[in-house]
Amino acid sequence: MKYPKQGLLFFCLSLLMGMLTLLLLANLRADEAIDTAAPSTPFAEGCNKCHGSEPAYQEWTHAGHAKALVNLHAGPYPVVRSCLSCHSSGYENFVDRVYPGHTYNLETAVNAVACSSCHSHASKEEHLLVMPAKKLCVSCHKMDCGCAGAGTVHQSQSEMFLGREGAGVKRMPSPHVRAMKKRCVQCHMAKEDPMTIAQHGGHTFIADIAVCSTAGCHDSADNNMNVKLPRYRAEIEAKMQAVKAMLDNANDTTSQAYQDAKLNYDMVKGDSGYGLHNMPYANALLDYSLSLKAELK
Ligand code: HEC
Ligand code: HEC
Ligand code: HEC
Ligand code: HEC
Ligand code: HEC
Repeated sequence: MKYPKQGLLFFCLSLLMGMLTLLLLANLRADEAIDTAAPSTPFAEGCNKCHGSEPAYQEWTHAGHAKALVNLHAGPYPVVRSCLSCHSSGYENFVDRVYPGHTYNLETAVNAVACSSCHSHASKEEHLLVMPAKKLCVSCHKMDCGCAGAGTVHQSQSEMFLGREGAGVKRMPSPHVRAMKKRCVQCHMAKEDPMTIAQHGGHTFIADIAVCSTAGCHDSADNNMNVKLPRYRAEIEAKMQAVKAMLDNANDTTSQAYQDAKLNYDMVKGDSGYGLHNMPYANALLDYSLSLKAELK
């Protein structure tokens, strides 16, 4: 009586195992199909093969860094190969390496600012970062690297945060430079639950101003950033308009005064947030520009 029962159980189990194997095989085939469909280039980083389903990857997919290569080409500036040093992963690794049949250039670059821009399995840093967190973001978010993009202030978060490089104003680092050990990462990657896919923070790199109060720093009624920030922004925006009008009306755009006034204006504009990363410095930069009004004419 016992035998047939066990036989049945064994049969059912085998059937189940068989089905599972088939399912697995089908899945593998699907993956292979995706692989062969992808462009065959040694430049594709391929981290998604193992990390594709993790929150970090999912968040990144929907965020700005994933569009960095597309936006580079779509943007208003002339594009040269070394723009890829900040707009595409792999520039340092591929640019001088010879792969028979493959050349790394603007047409063949495939990665945006992707996983390998910031991580490497060969790294000894925490989270396999390619450099310590406090240095990572400013390595790209800076206005002048002496490379492509130099001369065009298309972003300036590093200089604004550290309060330097402006004309006519003393050095003035944001108080956050000392208060935040991981700097940019501390605001832009703050995340409550590491296991969920975040809407802001994490690998979306979107800073939510809620982070100002959750850190326990700006939580009192008279120090509430939800109230203060819009006020600061309005003040800076008004000053920016005044400087812009002044620059637009200037006749001699080659004078030192014009160059200085414009540099300061471009820096505040390039911060992408009305000087938000360093309000006192943004104010000082714009005030200095305005002080040059008589010299501009
Ligand atoms: C390899 C260079 C590089 C590094 C390193 C880098 N960024 Fe970026 N970042 C870019 C580029 C290029 C863009 C522009 C993307 C685009 O086209 O919108 C960008 C865009 C952004 C944006 C705007 C995103 C959006 O959704 O519009 C934020 C915020 C940002 N980065 C924060 C950070 C932070 C925080 C770090 C450090 C953890 C960092 N970045 C490190 C190159 C870099
Ligand atoms: C030192 C790093 C770096 C280099 C080199 C660089 N970029 Fe960028 N670029 C960035 C970062 C960071 C952002 C994101 C700025 C932000 O969101 O405020 C960005 C944003 C952009 C954008 C989208 C935003 C905008 O201002 O319209 C374009 C277009 C762009 N870059 C074009 C270029 C071109 C063209 C070159 C080469 C001539 C270049 N970049 C070189 C770091 C760089
Ligand atoms: C612009 C830089 C940047 C890019 C691009 C980036 N990371 Fe990260 N990643 C970081 C930083 C910085 C940390 C550490 C955050 C901290 O210390 O709070 C981190 C942490 C992590 C962690 C640890 C746990 C966690 O989620 O915080 C994982 C896993 C990870 N990254 C995977 C990835 C993968 C996969 C990709 C590609 C989709 C990627 N990262 C792209 C900067 C980056
Ligand atoms: C063959 C599979 C595989 C590939 C491909 C792969 N990884 Fe990993 N990675 C792993 C495993 C396994 C771990 C260790 C387990 C873990 O922490 O998730 C790991 C760990 C990591 C971590 C540490 C996460 C943490 O919590 O600190 C980062 C960051 C990371 N990988 C980034 C990358 C990047 C960037 C690439 C592409 C250049 C990549 N990986 C390609 C399998 C892979
Ligand atoms: C004190 C917190 C804080 C620190 C530190 C900080 N940021 Fe921000 N950042 C913000 C906030 C808040 C915004 C505005 C977000 C918004 O408007 O949605 C912002 C905006 C930005 C933007 C524009 C985003 C966009 O959507 O265009 C970029 C790029 C950026 N930060 C990069 C950086 C870099 C690089 C650093 C380090 C040098 C840094 N931030 C340090 C809080 C911070």
